[in-house]
Amino acid sequence: MKVCTKINEIRAILTQARTSGKSIGLVPTMGALHAGHASLIAASSARDDITVVSIFVNPTQFAPNEDLAKYPRTFEADKQLASAHGAQIIFYPDVAELYPDGEPTWVEVTGDITKVLCGKSRPIHFRGVTTVVSKLFNIIKPTRAYFGQKDAQQVQVLKKMVRDLMFDLELIVLPIIRESDGLALSSRNIYLSTSERAAALVLSTSLQLAQSAFSQGERNPEKILTLVLNNIATEKLATVDYVEIWQLPDLTCCTNPMQASNLLAVAVYFGKTRLIDNIILEA
Ligand code: PAJ
Repeated sequence: MKVCTKINEIRAILTQARTSGKSIGLVPTMGALHAGHASLIAASSARDDITVVSIFVNPTQFAPNEDLAKYPRTFEADKQLASAHGAQIIFYPDVAELYPDGEPTWVEVTGDITKVLCGKSRPIHFRGVTTVVSKLFNIIKPTRAYFGQKDAQQVQVLKKMVRDLMFDLELIVLPIIRESDGLALSSRNIYLSTSERAAALVLSTSLQLAQSAFSQGERNPEKILTLVLNNIATEKLATVDYVEIWQLPDLTCCTNPMQASNLLAVAVYFGKTRLIDNIILEA
């Protein structure tokens, strides 16, 4: 396992690999790796000749009131997990390496796709994500880049960025990995107290209720939203940020009756910890 902290160093290694015809898989992460990240790393190493995992807690996607300073940093364990799932290189730059002095150049996907859902409660978030992911794409020049459906809006925003800016790579999206009781794995789950952890199960049970109703033919989005909101309301430690349905692929307004493919996405606070989860309701 090679750890590179410098852009020049990783570029030299990857240029050589590319020249000898090797494909490169990139798994961008902020570290504190868990089985969700591991699934992306394993998928990349099954398909690509070289798997690069980037670990960078990207300051520009956190607002001043968010958890940048206390975001979990577990580099030694991350190294082991990445290696165990087939990564050959970790790209581990510091902030100055990716954001040299001065006001950064932003890469921003505009329009409703970045204004609804998490874009509403975290207005600068996606600009930070698309800026750092563009940098990573330009440094690594991956054949494929792997992302999780856990961050469903991030996936749609990045797909649009790749289309609009003609990045020459394939974006692969993989399913949400959950604990055995249904809670979606997240680096932020460690913030939860025991009672908050128990309460957080209401996310996946609510999404399952919606899925059942949809499977039984319910196509009225308001009724599905009410079902989910009522179920979350039974959990007193839960405070809803949003529960919404948007039509895929580009997060346009959901029709009534619902058609094609729809994203039901939830963001809920348990104490100070904000968790997100989602499900695709597909006709
Ligand atoms: P991070 O939250 O570390 O997530 C890295 C990747 O792991 C993302 O593509 C995310 O969707 C995926 N992931 C997280 N939890 C998952 C789960 N339970 N199942 C499947 N995949 C999961 O997302 C980011 O970092 C950042 O925004 C980043 C893209 C790295 C840009 O800074």
